[in-house]
Amino acid sequence: MLSFGRFVTCTIAALSCLSLVYCEKYKFCMVDGKGGYMKSGRYCPNLDIAESKVECVVALDRLDCLRRLSKGTADFSVFTAEDLVTAQNSKIEVLVTNELRYNAKDNYEYEVVAVVNNNAGIKSKHDLKGKRFCHPGYGYETDWTRILANYFEASVVTPSCDTDLTITENRIKATAEFFEASCKAGPWVNNPSLNIQLKQKYAHLCELCGNPSKCSINDEYWGRRGSLLCLTDGAGDISWARLDDVKTHFGLQSGLVPDQYSLLCPDDSLMPLTAAEPCIWVVKPWPVVASRRSVAQEIQEIVSSLSPNVTGWRQSVLKLLETSYTVVKKVDSVEPIESYLHRATGFLSANSFSGCHPPRTINICTTSIIENAKCAWMRESAAVYGLEPDLECIKADNTTHCMVALNQKAADIVMVPSDLVHRAEKEYNLTTLFYETVNVDEKYITVAVTKPESNIKTFADLRGKKACFPVYDGVAWNTVKKVLFDKQLIKNCPLEKEITNFFGPSCTPGLPDNLSGSMKKTCQEDTFNGEFGALQCLSSGAGDVAFVSRNSIKKFVSSENENSANSKLKIEDFKILCESKTKPCHLSWAPLGQGMIRNNSTDLWKKDTLDVFLRLDNLFGKSYQSLTTPFTMFGKYDGKSDLLFHDATIRLRSVATSKDFDTMVYPYKDFLNVDTMCINSNASRISFNGYVLLFIAAVSVRFCFN
Ligand SMILES: *[C@@H]1O[C@H](CO)[C@@H](O)[C@H](O)[C@H]1NC(C)=O
Ligand SMILES: *[C@@H]1O[C@H](CO)[C@@H](O)[C@H](O)[C@H]1NC(C)=O
Ligand SMILES: *[C@@H]1O[C@H](CO)[C@@H](O)[C@H](O)[C@H]1NC(C)=O
Ligand SMILES: *[C@@H]1O[C@H](CO)[C@@H](O)[C@H](O)[C@H]1NC(C)=O
Ligand SMILES: *[C@@H]1O[C@H](CO)[C@@H](O)[C@H](O)[C@H]1NC(C)=O
Ligand SMILES: *[C@@H]1O[C@H](CO)[C@@H](O)[C@H](O)[C@H]1NC(C)=O
Ligand SMILES: *[C@@H]1O[C@H](CO)[C@@H](O)[C@H](O)[C@H]1NC(C)=O
Repeated sequence: MLSFGRFVTCTIAALSCLSLVYCEKYKFCMVDGKGGYMKSGRYCPNLDIAESKVECVVALDRLDCLRRLSKGTADFSVFTAEDLVTAQNSKIEVLVTNELRYNAKDNYEYEVVAVVNNNAGIKSKHDLKGKRFCHPGYGYETDWTRILANYFEASVVTPSCDTDLTITENRIKATAEFFEASCKAGPWVNNPSLNIQLKQKYAHLCELCGNPSKCSINDEYWGRRGSLLCLTDGAGDISWARLDDVKTHFGLQSGLVPDQYSLLCPDDSLMPLTAAEPCIWVVKPWPVVASRRSVAQEIQEIVSSLSPNVTGWRQSVLKLLETSYTVVKKVDSVEPIESYLHRATGFLSANSFSGCHPPRTINICTTSIIENAKCAWMRESAAVYGLEPDLECIKADNTTHCMVALNQKAADIVMVPSDLVHRAEKEYNLTTLFYETVNVDEKYITVAVTKPESNIKTFADLRGKKACFPVYDGVAWNTVKKVLFDKQLIKNCPLEKEITNFFGPSCTPGLPDNLSGSMKKTCQEDTFNGEFGALQCLSSGAGDVAFVSRNSIKKFVSSENENSANSKLKIEDFKILCESKTKPCHLSWAPLGQGMIRNNSTDLWKKDTLDVFLRLDNLFGKSYQSLTTPFTMFGKYDGKSDLLFHDATIRLRSVATSKDFDTMVYPYKDFLNVDTMCINSNASRISFNGYVLLFIAAVSVRFCFN
């Protein structure tokens, strides 16, 4: 009886186990690329059939997949070697099961070597000083990260740690001083004017280029082939190049004598170009399939079974996995990241070169745990792509606390929404480093809104009316102050006091008690708070006019109709006040937010920091170059919008517009010093009024004479 019972239990366990394996599919974490690379819609539905062992989980970016693997909500995905370094640094355990190779025979995507001219007298690293250096340059960062591009110099050049210079400039200076001359074409930094400035200052680094004054990506000695041409044309003594390019270059060009050139090895020996086992400085590993530990063996079996001739669901899995890589190569035994990357010559040490001491760090202030987590992933991503200075993320309670932290030097940069910019400048001595630029329809476009039946036709009609502002001292508030001042509807300084006597009882969340004048509160701040609150204030009849962003009206109408069954608001229930038929109706416009720093930061520090953020934008912003992105700067993180940056941001720029041809009038930044304008204009305005009186007097005198 006892043994029978045990037998039954086992069978049931085995059965449930079997059905589990059969029913439960392995979750492939899928990242869609841009444009034509939206593969999930095409191939994921093919996996819905019962016999498929795999199903899709669609994620935002590759690090999102890494987090899902770590949480157990996905089982396997495709990663780059840089992603694996991020995983390792973030203590996320995954196992490498397969490589996605372009061809079966090459162990790495590419290998990088140093080629020297035998007549240059270079026998070891110690002979390199004062020689002429050919470098492929910059401008194709996605498969040629700065880490790999700078590896050789990081290994051989005496570092420069001048505290008066930016980290980038120190690197440039070190190379410029070490070699007699070089060609390092393409953008050294992302800020075009700084790029020109540096190239003029360190002209030695462009001296060997075909066109030293331009030193651009169009140079004949720029790029993978360019650095080898620079060497074989006799311009330089040594070239940093990919081994496959070296083979092509020297194999194709007849007349060249390969034994005039050698490989310089990291161990200080020389090797002929034709060596069977060429000495490599650093390799770029293939993209890989990696999996959670508990299912790694099974994933490897499935993935390894995918060959170009497979059909059915397996074919769809292969399509989902492959990028331009077509050969699925099994890793000998499923392997932890550390040992896998350890075998990749130089790759890990390339990621751990120490910089100058003390290290320079940019401390980014965040305002919540989840925002800080997004910031931390940005920091990790920045590090594996070789961005300097390092980033650090510091959490405060809200933006006000962050501004205090900046003021007290506990943090260096904070993202400030437009409504808080005036306060940031005035109270915390902060200044703008860059703007989060957006498309026109995402801008904050201040307008005065009334009900359609309202008899308010001009700004003068607004005197004594009940106003609804989203917040005190925000974009709308400061804009209205400037507009009323320009129209001479308020004249006396301080304008802040004056505006509160212009309107009647109003709703302005955050208005200080000692300011309220005739405008004293008419509303509960929590009900009429923010953009929607101001529109609610208007539509409920509490106010006669609301000052909000034009874009908020549509959003408000749809949100109201969504949230309350008997609400039937229409856009036509709101009318934008427009005084003139010839001038635009909007009062000002602002980007969504801006990166702000201490006003008294040094020029050098500003340049370093701006460059880091422009490069982050380039790598992880909307215009990333690779098929899929490791990290989404301007988009959701863990399902949450507008963390650290606004999702709608197009790009970061040192000007407020996303495009140079955007010439929308009335930028908000021109409205911020209206209080100083008032004080300065007091004297001239009195005399202006005087002239008017004189003029009227003159007219009446002439009238009398006639
Ligand atoms: C697919 O090709 C592989 C070799 O690439 C071969 O071993 C296998 O038998 C083929 N499978 C089918 C179903 O043709
Ligand atoms: C931040 O919190 C403080 C209270 O700790 C509050 O006074 C301040 O208004 C808050 N700032 C913002 C922008 O919400
Ligand atoms: C900049 O201002 C902060 C306070 O806002 C002050 O602590 C710091 O010493 C100033 N730095 C310089 C270089 O003047
Ligand atoms: C802002 O800067 C001015 C002038 O440098 C200084 O007098 C003032 O104390 C600073 N304010 C704060 C809050 O640091
Ligand atoms: C920032 O500092 C400069 C000089 O260092 C000064 O001219 C300017 O008025 C300051 N701006 C603010 C907002 O404090
Ligand atoms: C109102 O009070 C604040 C302090 O609470 C003060 O800084 C500000 O200058 C006052 N404003 C006026 C107009 O008196
Ligand atoms: C500006 O002029 C008005 C009178 O027109 C006066 O009341 C006010 O005090 C003046 N403000 C300044 C800062 O001079």
